[in-house]
Amino acid sequence: MKKVFAMLLTGVMMFTMAGCSKPAAAPAPAAEAAAETKTEAPAEEAKTEEAKPAEAKKLVVGYSQLGAESEWRTACTNSVKGEAEKRGVDLKFSDAQQKQENQIKAIRSFIAQKVDVIGVSPVVESGWETVFKEVKDAGIPLVLVDRKADVPEDLYACFLGSDFKAEGERAAEEMATLLGGKGNIVELQGTVGSSAAVERLEGFKAVIESKYPDIKIIKSQTGDFTRAKGKEVMEAFLKSDGKNIQGLYAHNDDMAIGAIQAIEEYGLKPGTDIKIVSVDAVKGAFEAMIAGKLNVTVECNPLLGPQFFDVCEKIVAGEAVEKYIPSEEGIYRQETAAADLPSRQY
Ligand code: AHR
Repeated sequence: MKKVFAMLLTGVMMFTMAGCSKPAAAPAPAAEAAAETKTEAPAEEAKTEEAKPAEAKKLVVGYSQLGAESEWRTACTNSVKGEAEKRGVDLKFSDAQQKQENQIKAIRSFIAQKVDVIGVSPVVESGWETVFKEVKDAGIPLVLVDRKADVPEDLYACFLGSDFKAEGERAAEEMATLLGGKGNIVELQGTVGSSAAVERLEGFKAVIESKYPDIKIIKSQTGDFTRAKGKEVMEAFLKSDGKNIQGLYAHNDDMAIGAIQAIEEYGLKPGTDIKIVSVDAVKGAFEAMIAGKLNVTVECNPLLGPQFFDVCEKIVAGEAVEKYIPSEEGIYRQETAAADLPSRQY
């Protein structure tokens, strides 16, 4: 009897113990995973891992800027760098100091670093085919920013920038109005072989020759888009043609500002004795207009950073982009310069 009672007691105890260790309900998969983590890692470590969001891969972009020759270029560089920072892009930036060989070196280093996209502002139009083919072979999309390159279209994803020819045409119409359709003009060209200089010359010349037969372009020479060179070349123009000059067309504001100094030193009044039209619409041009020394500036927008990174992100996401993305531009005249200046960003 004692034996039977002892066996019954052991059975009841075993049943009770088994019931206690059994989970109340099967855990949900996530809770199960968490529980697993908890058993494998110390409590603190597990907490940090849970809180950490999955890290998105940073966009890596190589940008070969052609130089720092003008106020415009500085604004363009600041726009690209500022936008990269804002978006958390890993930007590899290189300033070529107006030398194509430096740009080619930079592009090759971007290839070696396996960046996601390469942006290039080509100093001149020709001589890019070999290195752009290397970029294509590496499977890296290339975006032309600000200036064009003379290469087959399949070597770049898109060109983002201004219509330089249209800027030249607008400048010609403004000059014709200022001169009343009659007079002699001298021209300060941008960097030889750059798309900005080639097309600004083409557009201007085409309008003057076709519509204004009494306006003559008597001298045209490069000032390399810099103030110093603009001044130097204007001095030479004044030396050879002096009071025979009624108008100056400068491919950018910096050269016009340099030329203004030369005109004053020569003893003439810039903006009055010699009408001046230039391109860019940087702050320095507005100050010169307010002082009555510059007549008109045709806008060329350097704030290309946001549009550039929009394009990069689209390309990397596999979205289609337009082959040409134009930047928005206007024309600014002396009469409204004081009112316009406070709202200028560059
Ligand atoms: O390519 C744009 C031109 O380059 C700007 O008009 C000029 O100022 C700059 O140097």
